[in-house]
Amino acid sequence: MAGSSDQTEVASAAVPAAETAAATTTPVVQPRAKAEASTSQAKAAAELSASMAEAEAAPTKTATTETETAPAASAPTEAAPTHETGTNRPAPDQTAIEVDSEAAPASISSDDNTADTDSLSDEGYAESTTGTNMTTSLSSSVRDYQFENNRRYHKFHEGKYHFPNDEPEQAREDMRHCMMVHASGGALHYAPLKNPQKVLDVGTGTGIWAIDMGDEYPEAEVIGIDLSPIQPSWVPANVRFIVDDAEQPWVTAPETYDYIHIRSMASAIKHWDNLMAQAFTALKPGGWIEIQDLNWIYRCDDDTMGPDYAVGLMAKYIGQALMNFGIKLYSPDDNPGRLEKAGFVDIRNTVDKVPVGTWPRDPNMKMIGLYNRSTVYDGLHGITMGPLTRGLKWTPEEVELFLVRVRKDLMNPRIHSYVHMHTLCGQKPY
Ligand SMILES: C[S@@+](CC[C@H](N)C(=O)[O-])C[C@H]1O[C@@H](n2cnc3c(N)ncnc32)[C@H](O)[C@@H]1O
Repeated sequence: MAGSSDQTEVASAAVPAAETAAATTTPVVQPRAKAEASTSQAKAAAELSASMAEAEAAPTKTATTETETAPAASAPTEAAPTHETGTNRPAPDQTAIEVDSEAAPASISSDDNTADTDSLSDEGYAESTTGTNMTTSLSSSVRDYQFENNRRYHKFHEGKYHFPNDEPEQAREDMRHCMMVHASGGALHYAPLKNPQKVLDVGTGTGIWAIDMGDEYPEAEVIGIDLSPIQPSWVPANVRFIVDDAEQPWVTAPETYDYIHIRSMASAIKHWDNLMAQAFTALKPGGWIEIQDLNWIYRCDDDTMGPDYAVGLMAKYIGQALMNFGIKLYSPDDNPGRLEKAGFVDIRNTVDKVPVGTWPRDPNMKMIGLYNRSTVYDGLHGITMGPLTRGLKWTPEEVELFLVRVRKDLMNPRIHSYVHMHTLCGQKPY
C-alpha cells in the first residue's frame, strides 16, 4: 500500500483514490441463514461427506513403532482467553461437545480438497486484473518465488510470512475456508452488513473468501490484497486482487471501505495496533471490521488429552518460533482490547469450539472436526517447516521426525481435543 517501488507500482495501479460509495437505499441484514452455505463450501462439504463415510469405514493407518523424540524447545505459557459471545449471528454451539463413542479414526486423502473448477459456470466471471493474469505488468520481484526445503514461498517482501504459497498449501487454505464458513453456520461474515459497496480482504490468500463474497454481494466491489500473487484469473467481475503488504502504510483514501475482513492472519501480523488504526481510517463512518482466527491452543474437557499431546506441542513450538519474529500466534486473546483502543465501538467477540477429528457425536460438529483435522493433517509439513527451521533452527529432518508423532496423535480418536475459533467485529462510529 506504499513503500518500495515494486509495491507502489502494483498498488497504485489498483488501490482506488477517494471514492464516494453509492447511497444505501435497501438495507439487507446479514449474515445469511445457516442453510445458505457458500457455493464452494457446499461443494467441499459434499466431497467431505463422501470421504468421511469412506474414511469411517476404512481401517486406521497410523504409525505405531516410532520412538522419536522432539527437539528440545520450551513451550510458551498459555494465556487465558476472553470468552464473550456476540449475538448477531447464527447461534454457536458453546456447550460441551458430546463424544461419539462409535467414532473410528479416519485416514485422510490429500486429494480431497482439490477444487473441481470444471463444473463451475463462468457466467458473470471475468479475468482478474492482478494475480496470475496481470503478471506482465508486475515487476519480477513481485511475481517471483523463493524455494526452501522443497516448498515455495513468496518473494515480494521476502521472508515476511513463514508459510508456503505452493499448491498443497493453497489446497489447505481452501479447505480451511470451507471449515471456517461451516463452523460459522454458513455465513461469510458475522458483522451486520447493510448493502456494502466496497469490501477489503486483508491477506486474501487464494482469494476464496473474496470470490464467495463477490458472488454474494454482486453490487459490491471486493478487493483482496496479499503478499503472494496466487489468486485465480477468472473471478466475478466485481472482485480483484492486489499484491501488497498490509503492514506498510496504506495509500487508500480515508473512508473508502464499508467492510474490512481479516481472516487467519494471527500467524502473520506483527503490529496489530497499527493495522487496526489503518483499517479504522480506511473505513467509512459506520463501516465494520471483522477479524476471524483459530486460536491454536488445544483444549480438552474430559482428560483424554495429556500434556505430551504432540499436536498441542507442535502449536506451541510454532508459536514460539513466530514469537522470535515478533509475531504473537495467540493474538485473538488480545485483539478485542486493541480494537477498542483503535476507536471501534459495538465490539462483538464470539468464541466457538472447533473439534479436532470425528470424535463428537453431533453430525455437524463431527463434520467440522473432520474438516479441521484434514486441514491440519494435509498441511503439517507446510505449517511446521518454515517456522521450526527458521525460528527455532531445527533441521528439516528433526521436523519430519517430530511430525510422525504429530500425525499419530492427530489421528487418535480417543483424544477429544478442540480449539477455539474467535470472530471479532467492531464498528467505526458515525
Ligand atoms: C493463513 S493465510 C489466510 C488466507 C485468507 N485470509 C483465508 O482465510 O483464506 C495468510 C495469508 O496472508 C498473507 N499475508 C501474510 N502477511 C501479509 C501482509 N503483511 N500483507 C498482505 N498479506 C499478507 C499470506 O501471503 C497468506 O496468503
